[in-house]
Amino acid sequence: MKKLMAANWKMFKTWDEASSTAQELVDLAAAKLPDDREVLVFPPFTALKAVADVFASKSGFSAGGQDYYIEEEGAFTGEIAPKMLLDVGGTYGLTGHSERRHVLGEDDEYIADKTSYGLANGLKVVFCIGEKIEERKGGRVEEVLERQMRIGLKDVPKDIAPENLSVAYEPVWAIGTGEVAGPEEIMEAHAFTRKILISIFGEKANEMRILYGGSVKPGNCNEIIALDNVDGVLVGGASLLSESFSQIVLA
Ligand code: 13P
Repeated sequence: MKKLMAANWKMFKTWDEASSTAQELVDLAAAKLPDDREVLVFPPFTALKAVADVFASKSGFSAGGQDYYIEEEGAFTGEIAPKMLLDVGGTYGLTGHSERRHVLGEDDEYIADKTSYGLANGLKVVFCIGEKIEERKGGRVEEVLERQMRIGLKDVPKDIAPENLSVAYEPVWAIGTGEVAGPEEIMEAHAFTRKILISIFGEKANEMRILYGGSVKPGNCNEIIALDNVDGVLVGGASLLSESFSQIVLA
């Protein structure tokens, strides 16, 4: 199983900025990229083609959309269909991100629709889960993660190819705060995530990647990526500069 080293650029970067950051990333990391690593960047929609074009001839580098809608086309102002992502070279989609859950108001049912729709329409999906600080303090981490997975993945076909679905554990309190989860917290959450995935998909869930996200930086990624059941990372702030993200990719 290749480790998935993913960047979520959120609402940052124009076309030119995205294109040059992607090119710098290739220049810094492509030649040294181990065979067991895959690099994935989620740029904003407007820069997806810029990044996908830079990655087009590079094996091990992919791009994807931070979001998409659950229809093929139609009167859905502001929305983007999976086939539009695929059309400009995006092969992945992101679902369930905490900012879409808690800032944009998406609920578990809608995230479930989106996750199964993307998979059914040619995208590989990175599905995000994670608890808020009050849920952790209230001893409810497993309850929250289990609910998010059982609802969010309920319509994913059981015969899915395991490489097409990854789960990103991103504790909300660690996103953009500089407060990274500790090794024990990460290992516990990832082991629990694996257990639930196996209960849903059977043994093939051992081949699904579980990523950690939340204040991953060059200084902490070596330790994180070496933990049990950590099959990659999903990086926000530290992925915006090619120097820091290339260090993470090669950690
Ligand atoms: P930060 O790496 O900035 O904490 O963001 C994590 C994240 O939300 C990635 O999707």
